[in-house]
Amino acid sequence: MKGRVSAEMVAAYLREIGIDYIPVPRRDHQPVSATAASPAKRECPPGEETLEEIRNELASCRGCALCPGRKTVVFGVGNPGARLMFVGEGPGEEEDRKGEPFVGAAGRRLNQWIARIGLSRDDVYIANIVKCRPPGNRAPLPAEAAACLPFLERQIRAIRPVAICTLGGVALQFLIDSAGKITRDRGKWREFEGIPVLPTYHPAYILRNQTRETEVFSDFDLLAERLRL
Ligand code: URA
Repeated sequence: MKGRVSAEMVAAYLREIGIDYIPVPRRDHQPVSATAASPAKRECPPGEETLEEIRNELASCRGCALCPGRKTVVFGVGNPGARLMFVGEGPGEEEDRKGEPFVGAAGRRLNQWIARIGLSRDDVYIANIVKCRPPGNRAPLPAEAAACLPFLERQIRAIRPVAICTLGGVALQFLIDSAGKITRDRGKWREFEGIPVLPTYHPAYILRNQTRETEVFSDFDLLAERLRL
């Protein structure tokens, strides 16, 4: 073939042979204080996509059986340059209506945990395994999670947080370890593409099982330690 090979042609070819991600070197995260974690947008090096680009692509997604039932695509919320990212399961009714993750009772409990380590919801980034509400608030099916996971992975790559905290068994199993068990694995560091990941309980579970909240507190202490807060 004559002529120049464009970046788009290379990307299309890589996608065709099953490669949709080429790792880039991890950006250097300096320890900063909670107040220094500004919500300002981080500069995006050439070749890396922004959250807005991913959000735009998702807006019209028809990738799984959840799309006909959704009111909104619940993309994610928070600081695009967050040092700490949370991953939940999927939007509930209120989240579907408002288009924002963790805005109901479970979200209020999550906000309290975040405040406990000196951060606010605006400092961190919050997303879910699936972006559309599963009917009746059931857990996402494996096919739904598989269809949506590439978007979450791209969000993580765009943000490159210092640490990720998965909330509940579903997030642990779909993002980190399909054989994971939250009661056994919470509080133990795992990894996603070199980023430390700490599984803890889902706040909705804690609302029903208050006595286990001390375990979440110790997990958040580990997060604070990792972030040097
Ligand atoms: N539970 C989740 O896992 N995610 C939300 O966004 C809300 C509740």
